[in-house]
This record gives sequence, structure tokens and C-alpha cells, in this order.
Amino acid sequence: MKIAFFDAKPYDRPSFDKYGEMYGVKFKYFETKLNEDTVELAQGYDAICAFVNDIVNEAVIDRMVQMGINILALRCAGFNNVDMKYAFGKVHVLRVPAYSPYAVAEHTMALLLTSIRRIHKAYIRSRDFNFSLSGLTGFDLYGKTVGVVGTGRIGRVFIDICRGFGMKVLAYDKFPASGLDNGDTVRYVELDELFANSDIISLHCPLTEETQHLIDNEAIEKCKRGVVILNTSRGALVDAEALLNGIKSRKVGAACLDVYEEEADLFFEDNSGHILEDDTLARLISMPNVIVTSHQAFLTEEALENIAETTVKNLVGFSENRQCPNELCYRCQTTEDCKNGKCFE
Ligand code: NAI
Repeated sequence: MKIAFFDAKPYDRPSFDKYGEMYGVKFKYFETKLNEDTVELAQGYDAICAFVNDIVNEAVIDRMVQMGINILALRCAGFNNVDMKYAFGKVHVLRVPAYSPYAVAEHTMALLLTSIRRIHKAYIRSRDFNFSLSGLTGFDLYGKTVGVVGTGRIGRVFIDICRGFGMKVLAYDKFPASGLDNGDTVRYVELDELFANSDIISLHCPLTEETQHLIDNEAIEKCKRGVVILNTSRGALVDAEALLNGIKSRKVGAACLDVYEEEADLFFEDNSGHILEDDTLARLISMPNVIVTSHQAFLTEEALENIAETTVKNLVGFSENRQCPNELCYRCQTTEDCKNGKCFE
């Protein structure tokens, strides 16, 4: 199989080359992102492999169909960048539903600890032999309440980590997981109760029409003063303007963002020599209590191995059997629910 691999980065290649060789799949790595202007590069390939900021809209899907390509292998879990409804019946969308929930959950805790213990400030100070402690006072996590929105794979690992710190957990999920609520240290509550009673709020739900701007002015208004907001899920879960206002008014005590609503043209690239056009992001980054990482929560050796292995197995499995347990369907979102893609028939 020959695969057109978009938005390729040097760290992708070793694991994809390894599993490609094992399963007879050849990747052509294109540095450019996939969009309606670049889809042409896939001419002559059997499938397209795409990542989180590649755009798979109607125009891209139409061109794929014209070129006879009906497999899109996402090497990520989220699929909000794909017009799933339009892809239905035209292009089979395969994904990597889980590669390392630990990678993302551990990065979330790393951001939280960095922020509240002022490690990002201390690191810079001590490099300059400034050993003053002024302004570095943090707070204990022990006994604090963390609100976790989305209790899927990553959310549950994050909850376990928080429980290890002796924190109480308020959870919210559209589809609560059975056996998680123990009526004591972990309780499912409605969103408003979570907002009102959490010292820290961490987002681990997918981006959908329903969850877009879940954290907006109104939500921030309902939060405790000094709340710490963590987003390692998808940028548009948070209204960045509202977050900035919350920071400015001191209602939000700190924010840690691994994702940003308008990240597509910025994240994963070195923009240090460019003028940043996005004033909201520039202002957020300038705040002493905001930490931004560039969608790197997934980036561990274990996750990269798992992503490559699952993507290659998805491609080979689908081309041989015309079905794959990791195929997505817009009607029910996962094939676990739609019995191996039966609703495509
Ligand atoms: P998952 O599918 O295991 O869990 C998502 C949970 O969100 C489910 O329990 C689901 O019921 C819940 N949910 C769905 N709609 C909801 C709603 N309207 N309100 C509240 N909860 C809702 O997904 P997983 O693996 O835990 O990933 C979570 C998110 O993390 C992904 O959607 C993705 O956007 C993000 N992610 C970020 C990465 C990064 O590098 N920063 C890497 C991997 C995933």
C-alpha cells in the first residue's frame, strides 16, 4: 500500500517507517498540511494519513473521491477536523482511538504542577542565579477539588492521578461511566455544580457542537474565584476571549492550555521569527499565570509507537477485510456502537 502522509514531522518517521516495513506499507511524507489546495499531492496513492490540524472538508473529500481514494487514516483520536457527515458513504475514516491516555493525563498534571508551584518562573530565575523565592508561593493539591469534564480514557487516568494527590473529584460526562462514582471522593454532578465547587477544572471531552465554548463568560462567572482551568483536549472547548477576560478580572487564577482554538496555523511550527497576528493568544501567553504548550500532551515515545502501529494495522486490516474496528461513523461516532461499520451498508 502507498500512503500519502500529510503534516509529517521528523518525530513521526521512525515509528511509521518501522511498522510500515513490517506490514508492507510505504509512506510518502509531505510536510504540508492537508487541505483543498494540497490534497492533489495524494494523486496515485491508496490512502491518506492525516493529523489533528489537517482539514478534511467537503472539497477535500470530493477530490479524494475523484482520485479514487476512499480511505482516510487519522493518526489521532479526535476527528473534529473531518466533516464526518459529508464523508459518510464516500470515504472510510479510520482513527487511533487510544494510544496512551497516560501521556495526555500525565502532561495535564505536569502543567498543573508547573503552574501552581511556579516552576516555569523558578526555572528561569535560577538559570540567572536569582534564588529569590518572592512571588513563588503555591498551594497544596491535597484536599482540593478538581472538576473533570469527560470521564473517558484520559479523564479517568487523570482522575486516578488526582486521587493519588489526595484530591476530591467532581466529574461530569454526558454518558457517565459505571463504577466511577464512589459517593465520596469521586462524584458525578451536573456541570453547574462542578463549576461552582471546583478549585481546578480539567477538560477531557471531545469537541462537538455541544461542547464548543463549554468554558465561556457564563461558565467562568459560575466558577470559584481563583479557579485553575486546564485544557489538554481541544482548543475550541474554551472561548479564549472569555478566558482572557477571566484572567484579567482575576476570576481565573491560572490557565494551562495544550490546545488553542486557532492553533491550526501556529502550533507544531517554529513561529519565533514571525509577528504573531493573534492578539488573544499573544496576550494569554504574556500572562504570568498562563502556560501554553503546543499540543504536545500526546508526545511520548510510547504514544508514537502505538499511533504508528494502530494506524498501519488499520490501513492493512481495512484494505484486506473492508472493515476495521477503528472506523468512525458520523451517526454513532464509534464502530463499537455501530457494529463494525454496518451503518455504511
Ligand atoms: P474518550 O472517547 O475515551 O472520552 C471522551 C469522554 O467525553 C467520553 O466519556 C464521552 O462520554 C465524554 N463526552 C462526550 N460528549 C460529552 C459532552 N457533551 N459533555 C461531557 N462529556 C462528554 O476520549 P479520550 O481518549 O479520553 O480523549 C479525550 C479528548 O482528548 C479527545 O476528544 C481529544 O480531543 C483529546 N486529546 C488530546 C490530545 C493532546 O495531545 N492534547 C491527545 C489525545 C486526545
